[in-house]
Amino acid sequence: MTDALSLSSRSTAAVVVAAGKGLRTGGMVPKQFVEWRGKPLVRHSVEALVEAGIRPIMVAIPEGWEEVAATSLGGLADVRFVLGGETRQASVRVALEALEPDAPSQVLIHDAARPLLSQAVIGGLIEALQRGVATIPVLPVVDSMIRGERGAMAGKVEREELYRVQTPQAFDYSTILDAHRSWQGEPDAGDDAQVAVAAGHEVLLATGDEALRKVTFAADLEEQGMIRATRTGIG
Ligand code: CTP
Ligand code: MG
Repeated sequence: MTDALSLSSRSTAAVVVAAGKGLRTGGMVPKQFVEWRGKPLVRHSVEALVEAGIRPIMVAIPEGWEEVAATSLGGLADVRFVLGGETRQASVRVALEALEPDAPSQVLIHDAARPLLSQAVIGGLIEALQRGVATIPVLPVVDSMIRGERGAMAGKVEREELYRVQTPQAFDYSTILDAHRSWQGEPDAGDDAQVAVAAGHEVLLATGDEALRKVTFAADLEEQGMIRATRTGIG
């Protein structure tokens, strides 16, 4: 196994945001705690981070779900919990603040809703971070992109300069902590790259991974299960 940290002499921590309500997915249990491929969704990516030697891993969770979170991530080294906020940005900020006593050099910030995190992606981001203070995984847009107005096509958008943005996003720790502290934008930033750019930092683009897509709707859980079944010849 390639240890991602062998690519960097700097200490790397992680924030995993798992404090959302999963309203678009629906159901009684927020999607990050739903059992998927044999374990809670959040456990997939946290295990990948542990395997990469990243520590500590600060997981932002929703109030009232402390026991479920502890069970979901039981037995994993250096996993800690903090109560998240009203928005994703607030959850990231509170988790970054909670890492301050550990004074990591760099941090990966990841959505619990993206379970399929590979060692190759983690290693690639840490390697890319040697060249700047922020690096994010992106994928090209392959479909034509248009603008629509009142149900009709209003114009074309050049897709060559458009990318789909994923997580984990990798940052110099104090740079992204300061950026979150000075964030004055919308209540929810969408992602941490926007927070970094708003604070005046250059964000480098690294190659993303189709497998990193986010579980958003209930069908995403089913669809991913079907893809697996097809690949392994089960379905
Ligand atoms: N998240 C969080 N704190 C919030 C909102 C979101 O930690 N206040 C996390 C989610 O748990 C998820 C990630 O941010 O891992 C991406 O957010 P999203 O996919 O939008 O999840 P939810 O906000 O939970 O879903 P929805 O918007 O459908 O309610
Ligand atoms: Mg949301």
